[in-house]
Amino acid sequence: MIGVINIAGYTAYTLTIMIKIMKLSVKPLHRTLSDFAAQVTGVDLSRGFTADIVEKVQSAIDQYGVLVFRDQHIDDDQQYRFSEHFGTMEQATGDVIPRGDRRLSMNVNDISNLDKNGNVLERDDRTRLFGLGNMLWHSDSSFKTIPARYSLLSARVIPDTGGNTEFADMRAAWDTLDKSLKRECQSLVCQHSQLYSRSSLGFDDFTESERIAWQPVVQPLIRTHPNTGRRSLFLSAHIGAIEGWPVPEARMFIRDLTEHATQRQFVYAHQWKKWDLLMWDNRVTMHRARRYDHAQPRDLRRTTVSDG
Ligand code: OGA
Ligand code: MN
Repeated sequence: MIGVINIAGYTAYTLTIMIKIMKLSVKPLHRTLSDFAAQVTGVDLSRGFTADIVEKVQSAIDQYGVLVFRDQHIDDDQQYRFSEHFGTMEQATGDVIPRGDRRLSMNVNDISNLDKNGNVLERDDRTRLFGLGNMLWHSDSSFKTIPARYSLLSARVIPDTGGNTEFADMRAAWDTLDKSLKRECQSLVCQHSQLYSRSSLGFDDFTESERIAWQPVVQPLIRTHPNTGRRSLFLSAHIGAIEGWPVPEARMFIRDLTEHATQRQFVYAHQWKKWDLLMWDNRVTMHRARRYDHAQPRDLRRTTVSDG
């Protein structure tokens, strides 16, 4: 038994029985892709979880790449404790929030438009403008030497409209690439940096220490999933160069591949409800945030499992 917590009125034993009675089920969500994005029901992470649940979630994420859990009334600690069963945890070192201004612990990425007092950030706030980079198609932490394996994102406050998160299936993108392009991609190595993704939006007033911290790292353009053996394109807005290629040609090539990979038939668009928890495998997906009214609060919290 792992992860059981005591809440008023229930003993740990009763909770264990309740968790065992709930039946986990996994149902595909995508209109046409039968193995991309699924909803998981019969789990209530606020009550704890068993090794059996972790195992079933692991096999579901391998198969579907994106999982949706509704009605998960969890706090940051519960989210972290569930996440850490899927690998080594990553720290939230990829943002520009000044140390003293953090709202959340370093175990959690603050995917919100709020300051440490819970107020909505001003329109021209640097942290907010940096965060707009999440609206570019990307794979989490591809700018780190060891990128992210899984991301888990929990919705605590959502705006009235907009603010969807979209996911694109990079396995389908690979499978449908024509033969000559596949051959061309074969041995390519890309350079990823947040300096590239943010500059593409005109955000380039980086501090000296940001420039040093975010020197480009290299990642292969094609990946093979260790559990399924399926290949996928490893694309991300953080890519700014391909080793051995002239920069404009590299960037144009990556744009073309991104356009192919993010066609609507490869995309699952998630419309958030409060207390949704999403889990995705960054090795086989890209994702992006969509626009919403910047004057309304949006509070999402991300825990991240590294690919190390
Ligand atoms: C993230 C992310 C998108 C969104 O949490 O990594 O890119 O919709 N979020 O906020
Ligand atoms: Mn992201």
